[in-house]
This record gives sequence, structure tokens and C-alpha cells, in this order.
Amino acid sequence: MSDSHWRPVDGAPDPFRVRWFESVDSTNRYLLDGARSGEPEGLVAVADVQTAGRGRLGRRWETDPGAALLASILLRPTSNLDPHLLTTTVALALRRAVERLTGTAPGLKWPNDLVVADRKLAGVLAEAIPTPQGTAIVVGAGTNVKAVPSEFRDRAIACDDLADGSVDRQQLLFAWLEELAARVRRPGEVIDEATVASATLGRDVRIEGHDGEAITGRAVGLTASGALVVEMEDGSRRAFTAGDVVHLRPA
Ligand code: BTN
Repeated sequence: MSDSHWRPVDGAPDPFRVRWFESVDSTNRYLLDGARSGEPEGLVAVADVQTAGRGRLGRRWETDPGAALLASILLRPTSNLDPHLLTTTVALALRRAVERLTGTAPGLKWPNDLVVADRKLAGVLAEAIPTPQGTAIVVGAGTNVKAVPSEFRDRAIACDDLADGSVDRQQLLFAWLEELAARVRRPGEVIDEATVASATLGRDVRIEGHDGEAITGRAVGLTASGALVVEMEDGSRRAFTAGDVVHLRPA
């Protein structure tokens, strides 16, 4: 299905405009191309299914058709808000939207996954590019909505596993966008909220870097730009700006 096969979804909170695809290769890819051709901030792409969904660290992201909210948001930060903080802001907005619809607030696993009891509920992928209009950031999230099949239940969880009834993807999307609009108006609070929401702080963790390096220690804090501060056994501390975190012991 080509890029032109989407339907508009009316009623999204200001300033968002939603294009819903039955199928697209990747909602992130679609919005990055839109950003290059001058689309303004606030364009949102959603898909029932992606044929080449992108995950963090070059991985693929695959979900059954209709089982997840697969959505990306085009942002063009005008202030000097750090892109990492903006991505965390999007994740925190999604966390609160999930809480509004299911009654459970997931934890924020550093950097931006949403988890419940160490089972993954949502993953977030941010991609930034230069455009003639300035830096564009596309933040995409895949949120499990339909109950997770039994073979994945040890590591994944979905909104329907948390809620009494079934969660509607469009309602979840609109709640997410409302929460994001509110947070973008008060960017100074993101680290405090991320600290309260964190499922990683206070845990023993292994950080796996892109270069194969792995470091073990205790996650003790976030810096002002959202880097994860880890204290090693010898008492020294190191701040990580990227990498994959493994929580080593149950919370
Ligand atoms: C992760 O690896 O945890 C991040 C996964 C991000 C997946 C979402 S689904 C919507 C958007 N479009 C993509 O191609 N990827 C993101």
C-alpha cells in the first residue's frame, strides 16, 4: 500500500493531525519523509500494521495486525529542548494515557520503554533529521493493546491485560496526544516526572552499549539531560546517554 492510502481521523487535540494507514512500511519512515518535504509539527501517522517497523538499535519491530497502537509524531522543537528530553516527554505522556485508560501506570524503563512488572508494554523510537525548516524529530511508539499471547507473557504485556474491558486504540492515541500537548507547555518538569515514573532507578542493571561493552552497577539517578547515572561496585559513577538496560533482579 502506498503513502497516499491513509484516512484522516478527526477530533485529535490541537495541534495534532492524524493520518491512519491500514498498512505502511513504517510510520517513522513516513513522517521523516514528510519532515523532509516540509510538513509542519503535529503530523501523526498511525498504522494497523507495518511491513518494515523499526525498533531501537537497528532492530525490527513486528506486531500482529491491529494488536498494537503503532503511531509516530512529527515534532519540530523551537526552543533548545534537548531531543532526549523531548523523547522522554512523549514516553511520559504515553504512560499517563495508559494509566487513564487502564488504571495502571506503567514504569519507565530507561531510556523510554514502558513496562509493568518488567514485562514490556511499549517501546519508543526517536529519529532526528536536519531539514530546511530546522531539526525535525519523529517519535514513534508501539504500544501493545490486545492481550498478549501466552507464549510471550513472561516478557510482554498489553493494555487489555491491565484493563477491565478492551482498550480502544484511537482513544489511547487521543489521550496520549492530550497528555503530550500538556507536557510540551511545561518542559521543566520532565526529569522530576521521569524520576517518579522510573522502573530502573534503584535497580541493579547491566548496560549494554552499541560497541558490545557491558557494565554492571546500580542505577542511582538521572542527569538534567536524562542520562542514566550508574554506580559501580568500586563506588565510581558513570552517566550513560545510550544503550540497552537489563534489570538484573526482580523489583
Ligand atoms: C523499541 O525498539 O523498543 C522501539 C520500538 C518502536 C516501534 C514504533 S511502532 C511505530 C513507529 N514506527 C516504527 O517503525 N517504529 C516505531
